[in-house]
Amino acid sequence: MNFQKIFAKPPEAEASAPGRVNLLGEHTDYNDGFVLPTAIPQRTTVQLGSSTDGQDHFYSEDLDEQVSILESNRTPSGFASYIFGCIQLLQKEGHTIPSLNLHVKSTVPIGSGLSSSAALEVATLRAVRQLLNLPINDVEIAQLAQQAEIHYAGVQCGIMDQMASSLADTEHMLFLDTRTLERRVVPFPSGAEIVVIDSGVPRTLAGSGYNERRAECEEAARLLGVKALRDITDSSATEVLPEPLRRRARHVVTENNRVLEVLHQVSSQRFGELMNASHASLRDDYEVSVPALDTLVEILQKTAGVFGARLTGAGFGGACVALVGAGEGRGIASNVLEQYNQTGNTGRILVPATDF
Ligand code: GLA
Repeated sequence: MNFQKIFAKPPEAEASAPGRVNLLGEHTDYNDGFVLPTAIPQRTTVQLGSSTDGQDHFYSEDLDEQVSILESNRTPSGFASYIFGCIQLLQKEGHTIPSLNLHVKSTVPIGSGLSSSAALEVATLRAVRQLLNLPINDVEIAQLAQQAEIHYAGVQCGIMDQMASSLADTEHMLFLDTRTLERRVVPFPSGAEIVVIDSGVPRTLAGSGYNERRAECEEAARLLGVKALRDITDSSATEVLPEPLRRRARHVVTENNRVLEVLHQVSSQRFGELMNASHASLRDDYEVSVPALDTLVEILQKTAGVFGARLTGAGFGGACVALVGAGEGRGIASNVLEQYNQTGNTGRILVPATDF
């Protein structure tokens, strides 16, 4: 149901934000490292109006679920937690926010590692900024969105997803130094486009596994005497560490170096090789892949026209991204999906997109 049907009046503001797919630089952001995401065509749209009964009401059209906030000191669960967190943080920053009617509609797939939560947070903050004419910029929006995710949704995430949703577009990659937030728009390698396929495996262990990896990286940095693993540039320096910290740190160091290499305008072939190396490192050193992701990546890597492929996002399930020849994405994706589904899995093509 649309805004008018739910709240019996038209919205006063509307904003949207995209999901993202990360091309290179996985599990590097909470190590102060480098990432290279791009926006995907799927977006989340938030419409807003003021509520006259003194309560906030959040409605998700996709879930057909409405949450009313009766007590402002209790974080709701599910989709409402992200919205609630954003509004609370704006208030803590000193902004006066009236009670709101808020309507969400999204085409960003949930649970595929494409940052549906960042898209919801950024779209919410943009819509409130528009409604109240708030003096906050896109980087501040990303920072508030990350804080909402950490403090209200309970995920100790880095800043990649929110920066990508707030600042990236679908035509370029966004190189980001997550320590300094220095960023640069980077063109895709010439003659190439991306394919994203969901493995159909939900990211069940993502929460616990993610926080465990993060803790391992912090311990590795402490043992190496650096502020963060970003400060190590030569992977041989990680050899003094005990296992599994050695492999975890080696992934982060080599992954940062792969991102930095593509800043020097590499060919599509070389970019693809680096994606393949990234997947091997995530599988063997970082241990965040699962059999279905390895199967999908192997099929992609064997397919003519594919330069390289890897899992994308936190891992433990979710989607894979591939770099393929320009104009070949749709054909390659359906051919790969057919082979993948014959292995007993149920995947789905997300990019090139049909439903945005
Ligand atoms: C999730 C987190 C990001 C990042 C990736 C892994 O998407 O939200 O901050 O750590 O995993 O690269």
